[in-house]
Amino acid sequence: MDRISKAVELAAEKRQPGKPKKPLSRSESAQPFEYTKTRRIVVQPEVMRENRLIAGSDQQIIIDAYKLLRTRVLHRMQQNNWRTLGITSPGANVGKTLTSVNLAISIAMKHENTVVLVDADLRRPSVHKCLGIEPEHGLLDYLEDDIPIDQMLINPGIDGFVVIPSHNHSHARSSERLSSTKMERLVRELTARYPDRLVLFDLPPILVGDDVEAFSPYLDAFLLVVEDGKTDIVEYAKTIEILEHEDVLGTVLNKSNEPGHGYDYYY
Ligand SMILES: Nc1ncnc2c1ncn2[C@@H]1O[C@H](COP(=O)(O)OP(=O)(O)OP(=O)(O)O)[C@@H](O)[C@H]1O
Ligand SMILES: [Mg+2]
Repeated sequence: MDRISKAVELAAEKRQPGKPKKPLSRSESAQPFEYTKTRRIVVQPEVMRENRLIAGSDQQIIIDAYKLLRTRVLHRMQQNNWRTLGITSPGANVGKTLTSVNLAISIAMKHENTVVLVDADLRRPSVHKCLGIEPEHGLLDYLEDDIPIDQMLINPGIDGFVVIPSHNHSHARSSERLSSTKMERLVRELTARYPDRLVLFDLPPILVGDDVEAFSPYLDAFLLVVEDGKTDIVEYAKTIEILEHEDVLGTVLNKSNEPGHGYDYYY
């Protein structure tokens, strides 16, 4: 077993329950939005296959790995009555977005659950690219220009799965935007309406700025993604330290080199 795999296992053994969550403020009343207005942009099967989405895959070993991840995530979320999960990593380009999208698809495939995936990586948004769609509106339009929430919603042709994309990248004030009261209102409105809905947030890497830490009060739990052979062990340790008082469900060991384990998940 290489060093990052070992570090991930050790971190899982040491993990403590996180801090109590800050309740979302009730200063503004939740204004339910209309899901009937959700735009449907059907992702084509060849795009799904090219972009490694499980909805277009016939590789059962990969589908099964995401289903296992889904079941473990759902158990922990339901046991604790948690609704919001942030997906992050120590550094860039390890597979956070692909993990977020495939986790969301696998949750939606379980018919009693619905899921919203928000692209909260304002620095390098790519959920729309992973789905091969070109959204008209995104999160920044809501945060900066006040477009209504329902104008951002897209159903990519999979029942029970709604995406809030973020198509314009911007490094400027990204952590201020993520910790704004408008973001808080969005989280509250997304979780208010349906008790069986999970809200996933595809986040930037934790070590590139303060975005993830600034947004953490709105998240019930985190899922980490590391890349086998690439994620630096020191960066991983630093990430675990930063999240010491948060609830971390586990770490996905992505692109694992171990034979037979394309995607591993340490709990
Ligand atoms: N398990 C995997 N096997 C093969 N390719 C993968 C795997 N996971 C991710 N990739 C590919 O690696 C690239 C980076 O993935 P992704 O965009 O999900 O990473 P990220 O961590 O979200 O990056 P960023 O830090 O830029 O947000 C993509 O081209 C994706 O298709
Ligand atoms: Mg990404």
